[in-house]
Amino acid sequence: MSGRRMTDRGMTETGPGGRGMGGRGRSGGAPKDPSPRRSLALFRAFLREQEDPDACYALLARDAADQVEAYGGPVAGRVVVDVGGGSGHFTEEFRRRGADAFLFEPDVRELAEKPPEGTVVADGYLLPLCDGAADVTFSSNVLEHVADPQTFLSELARVTTPGGLIYVSFTNWFSPWGGHEWAPWHYLGAERARARYRRRTGRPAKHTLGENLFPVHIGTTLRQVRGRADVRIVSARSRYWPFLTETVVKVPGLREFATWNLLLILRRCPE
Ligand SMILES: C[S@@+](CC[C@H](N)C(=O)[O-])C[C@H]1O[C@@H](n2cnc3c(N)ncnc32)[C@H](O)[C@@H]1O
Repeated sequence: MSGRRMTDRGMTETGPGGRGMGGRGRSGGAPKDPSPRRSLALFRAFLREQEDPDACYALLARDAADQVEAYGGPVAGRVVVDVGGGSGHFTEEFRRRGADAFLFEPDVRELAEKPPEGTVVADGYLLPLCDGAADVTFSSNVLEHVADPQTFLSELARVTTPGGLIYVSFTNWFSPWGGHEWAPWHYLGAERARARYRRRTGRPAKHTLGENLFPVHIGTTLRQVRGRADVRIVSARSRYWPFLTETVVKVPGLREFATWNLLLILRRCPE
């Protein structure tokens, strides 16, 4: 892999809308983050996900890439590693912005018909990368699908260069979307929700609790991440909310229901 180190470029440490946006995000990406217009656009895209997955994930990818650039500066020329990237929309978007981006995905069924060139079939627990290989490590909605999130985070930190950015987002268990395709019935118990899904659709649900979906909580995750020596939290916020994105995450109890999806922007230590 090639690409200059993010630290060589003097990474910015601004939030959304700050200097780090680098212009590209606003003009070529989704609407301003956070804003009601953006949240509405994302919500509409989610509602049409089954009908038009490409449009939905292309918008989500532009939005997420804008967020990465907002916190870390332009990705052009940098090495971006997309772990558990599924169909590869995020990798493609980072490439469009000039990054040396690579998709690492363990499940070939998740790949698109034509995955991005150079895609690696690999597990996030054991990435075939040397220490510090990536300027940006990106993982969108994967953490709730691994049995051991802390080991998964350790591997993301290992492959990120000191001072590099780690983007991790996940849907927590008590989020209204925590049960994924069987939400919001997970509030009544996973088994019941799964059985209901099968009755209603006539097909088995994709996710089974304890197999490929795990109950991840915001409070526990924050405590564990704060206790780590290999990363520092730059921002812990709601990924999709239109306002109070960091405030909602500070309120124990409420955050488990109201955050929807936690976005952790981490910096690899030592910086
Ligand atoms: C909900 S999909 C998210 C796909 C994509 N990142 C997105 O945000 O649309 C979860 C992904 O996590 C992947 N995954 C599950 N376990 C993983 C692991 N141990 N390492 C890396 N990826 C994993 C799955 O194969 C799947 O592609």
